[in-house]
Amino acid sequence: MSETKKTPETLRSFRWYGTENMRGFAHRQRFLQMGFRRQDFVGRPVIGIINTWSEMSTCHYHLRERADEVRRGVWKAGGFPVELPALSLGEVMVKPTTMFYRNMLAMETEELLRSHPLDGAILMGGCDKTTPALLMGAFTMDMPCIFVPAGPMLNGKWRDETIGVGTHTKKYWDELRAGTITGDDWRELEASMTRSNGTCCTMGTASTMTSIVEALGFSIPGAASIPAVDSAHPRMATDAGERIVEMVWEDLKPSKIATSDAFHNAIVTYAALGGSTNATVHLIAMARRIGADVSLDQMDKIAREVPVLTNLMPSGKYLMEDFHYAGGLNALLGRVSDMLRLDALTITGKTMGENIEGAKVYNDDVILPRDKPLNDRPTVAVLHGNICPDGAIIKPSAASPELLQHTGPAVVFDDYNDLYARIDDDDLDVDENSVLVLLNAGPIGGPGMAEWGDQQIPKKLLAKGVRDMLRISDARMSGTRDGTVILHIAPESAIGGPLSSVRTGDMIEFDFANRSLNVLVDEAELERRRAQWVAPEPLYKRGYGVVFAEHVNQANKGVDFDFLAAPGGVIEPDIN
Ligand code: FES
Repeated sequence: MSETKKTPETLRSFRWYGTENMRGFAHRQRFLQMGFRRQDFVGRPVIGIINTWSEMSTCHYHLRERADEVRRGVWKAGGFPVELPALSLGEVMVKPTTMFYRNMLAMETEELLRSHPLDGAILMGGCDKTTPALLMGAFTMDMPCIFVPAGPMLNGKWRDETIGVGTHTKKYWDELRAGTITGDDWRELEASMTRSNGTCCTMGTASTMTSIVEALGFSIPGAASIPAVDSAHPRMATDAGERIVEMVWEDLKPSKIATSDAFHNAIVTYAALGGSTNATVHLIAMARRIGADVSLDQMDKIAREVPVLTNLMPSGKYLMEDFHYAGGLNALLGRVSDMLRLDALTITGKTMGENIEGAKVYNDDVILPRDKPLNDRPTVAVLHGNICPDGAIIKPSAASPELLQHTGPAVVFDDYNDLYARIDDDDLDVDENSVLVLLNAGPIGGPGMAEWGDQQIPKKLLAKGVRDMLRISDARMSGTRDGTVILHIAPESAIGGPLSSVRTGDMIEFDFANRSLNVLVDEAELERRRAQWVAPEPLYKRGYGVVFAEHVNQANKGVDFDFLAAPGGVIEPDIN
C-alpha cells in the first residue's frame, strides 16, 4: 500500500462520527440501529456506492448484485460501504431524452457526496449519460472515486448473423420500410439483439464513455470492455471496492488525476475508438467541472492525427465482446502509446504508462495495426461556417465518403414532429442529393438535445436503394448509428442561431476537407430572415424544464448548466 496521507481523525466522515457531542451521538446511533458496531465505521473510510440500478435501466439490471461485490472489497480493505441509489437514466425508456436529465444526475451525485458522511465513492453506471453525469458530480466534489462500468451486453445474434444494438435496429428498420424483410423477421430481431444485461454491444455512447473514463484514469485498467455477465466483472467490482479505501488514505482526489494530460489521453482514446459523437459534449462538460482544458477544436486536431484502430460497429464490423477478447482498451492504448501522455496518474496510484505496460493485441482484425487503420477518415471532424459559427461536428469514419464533399438543396423541417409527419409523404420534394435539415432540436429547442439528428431516409428513396443522405441539425445522434450526419450545430436554431435562417431550397455546401458548412445565401438575405425570426414558445412553463431552458449551455460548452459548469465552490455542510 502506498504512503498514508489521511489519518482516522482527518477523515471527512470523522466530522460526523468522531465527535462526542449530541450530533455525533445521533450519527453513530443510526448506524448502530442497523446492527453495526462503533469500530465498524468510526475512523474508517466510509465509501458511498452511488448506484444507478433500476428496473427501468435495463443495461444496469445486474448493478444491484454488483454493489454487493464492491462492498466485499471495501470491507476487506478496512472501509465501511454504504449504498446510495441515484437517478437511473435508462437510455431507451427515459423521455424526452436522457440528455435532458444528465445534469440532474450530475447535480444529484454532487449533492449525495456533499451531504452525506462519505470519504470516497464508487460510481456505478454505464448506460450513456450515467457515466459523464456521475463523473461530473464527483469532479465537482473532488472526492476520491472509482467508476465501475456496467460492462457491455453479449454480442447480438440473429440466425447466422452477428448484430449490434442500435446499428442493426436502424439498418433493419430501413429494410422493413423498403420491404426487403418481413414483419416476422422484424419481430424475431426484437428478441435476438439484446441477449444479456449490460450496455449496448456496439462502440456506441456507453462503451465510448466507459472507455474514455478508463483512459482518464478513473477505472480499474481493462474494466470498460469486460462483458457485464462475465465472472471477471464482479472480480473487477471487488478490486474497485478494495482500491477506493486505499485511495482515501492516500488522499488521491480527482483533481490529481483528471488533469489536462488525462483529458488529452481521453481524446486520443476517443479518436482511436471510432467513438460516439456524444463524447464531444460529455468531454467538454466533464473537463469544465475540474478546470481542465478541452475544446472542440482540440478534438478535431487530435482526431486528424489519431487513426481509427478499432473495427467495431457502427464504423466497423465487430462488437464489444470481440474487443474484450482482442485485448480490450489496454491493448488499444498500447497501439497509440506514443500519442499518449504516459505520466498521467490514475486511480491505481500508477501512471497510464505503467498500467498499459505489456498489453497485447490478440486479434489484429478487431484492434487494427497502426499501418492498417479502419479507413482514412477520422472519428470526429469539427466544422465552422455561416450556419455554425460556434461549431458543428460529424463522424467521418461512419459517413459515406462520397457525401463528404456535397452541395445540395435543403429540405427543412421545423421540428421533430414536422419531420415525423412529412418524411414519408410521397409528395415531399426530395431526392438523394437533397440535404435534410432539422430545426429546433438542440439543447433548448428539443428541449434536451435528443438523438434525432440521423433523420430517417424518406421511404420513397429507400425503395430506390438510397441508404444515406447528408443530414444536418442541432440535435445529437445515437452513438450506435452511422451515416453522413452533421450534428450539434451551435448556436442552436431555437435561440436564433443561423441555422434558423435556412429555408427549403437553399443550397447547403459541406466541405469536409476544409471543415466547413455553409448555406449559399447572400448575407443581406440572411440578415433579412434573421430580422423576421420569432423565438419558439417554450414548451415548459413550470418545473425542471424551466430550470433546464434557463441555464443550459450550448453544445460547444458541453450542455452543462451555467451554474454548475465551473470547478470548485463546494460548501461543506455544517455538522454541529
Ligand atoms: Fe443503455 Fe445503450 S441503451 S447503453
